[in-house]
Amino acid sequence: MAGKGDTPETRPATKLVSAGRKPEWTGAAVNPPVWRASTYLYEDSAAQEAGRHVNADGVFHYGARGGPTQWALAEALTALEPGAAGTMLYPTGLAAPAMALLSVLKAGDEVLVSDNSYDPTRAFALHALRDYGIGARFFDPLDVGCFAAAIGGDTKAVLFESPGSLTMEVCDVSALAAAAKARGLCVLLDNTWAGPTGFQALRHGVDLSILALTKHVGGHSDLMLGSVTANARYYPRLRKRSLLLGQQASPDDAALALRGLRTMGVRLERSAASALRIAAWLRDRPEVAQVLFPMFPGSPGHELWQRDFSGGCGLFTFVLKGRDAAARDRLVDALRLFGIGYSWGGFESLVLGVPPERDRAVMAWPPADCGPADRFAVRLWIGLEDPDDLIADLEQGLAAL
Ligand SMILES: Cc1ncc(COP(=O)(O)O)c(C=O)c1O
Repeated sequence: MAGKGDTPETRPATKLVSAGRKPEWTGAAVNPPVWRASTYLYEDSAAQEAGRHVNADGVFHYGARGGPTQWALAEALTALEPGAAGTMLYPTGLAAPAMALLSVLKAGDEVLVSDNSYDPTRAFALHALRDYGIGARFFDPLDVGCFAAAIGGDTKAVLFESPGSLTMEVCDVSALAAAAKARGLCVLLDNTWAGPTGFQALRHGVDLSILALTKHVGGHSDLMLGSVTANARYYPRLRKRSLLLGQQASPDDAALALRGLRTMGVRLERSAASALRIAAWLRDRPEVAQVLFPMFPGSPGHELWQRDFSGGCGLFTFVLKGRDAAARDRLVDALRLFGIGYSWGGFESLVLGVPPERDRAVMAWPPADCGPADRFAVRLWIGLEDPDDLIADLEQGLAAL
């Protein structure tokens, strides 16, 4: 019987296998089938009328509230996050921070956004929220004292991304969340890099934990999906606002994401292990000024990663020593096993030339320990290929610099 062995005490690797597999959702199958439905039929008018007064997760109503395939995914994500009351799903990863912010802010409020956040999240906070009368300001998440001083009378929420998905800064989420809570702020975190198996966001003081499921959970570069998992204080308003704004994920994508979730642990372990080997190789190369990879000893943020995280992934960035944009592009273009593309978390390796200066307001670039001429960086997502082949590819790519 599905889900028979899952208890609240099971460890994350076990939860990845069993969470969300309720017999009433899976039937005799291991995985919940794809329940494609706009319409769920009632027995009679009395049942339909009674149904109008029930507004809860896991209850058939209308397709906009989802069905068993989406409920299974949401329940699995909730089970993976200790302290969570529920999870809402969204059709893209970007819709997740957007809906989380719209759920906790109103006209006249302000949100503080960490300066290393994903560019479209920044754009949403700055431009879309402004049209609703909500202000946004950026802050340096590495400076806890400066953050506390930045909280103003209208500040009602703070959004972190740790590590930053381009430049990999790890922030002290517990300390920042404590400072935020002392002033009554709602705390949001984009936890996509580590995910719930690598960083238990709610246990570190976060109220709403955001994931782009497009990345590790999907894992195969063939779906777009996002989620927000919230504690009991914030889940009701997240759910209410998301449903009011018609947010739901498709059952097909939810089924793919559930399939990805079951193998996510081993994929991330393999990706991170390969990335650590590749980072060590890059660190010893004369063309490289710095490796930015929190899991890698000696990288910025490694001590915080060791203190707070139980895992990570193979997404990291390295800074070139004294080269220009054209040289960086020659390296990127010369790589054969790394596709040039956005996103990460799939089975295949990817590369991206990153222009950090373009997307920050207050944080310095280049990072500490780099010279002023070390400005150009390359982000790698390490997939499931043989790491020796990836190193050989990087070696011939560096020769093109
Ligand atoms: C950290 C982070 N959050 C959110 C997103 C948005 O996810 P999606 O591409 O599914 O909209 C991304 C996408 O790259 C990301 O890197």
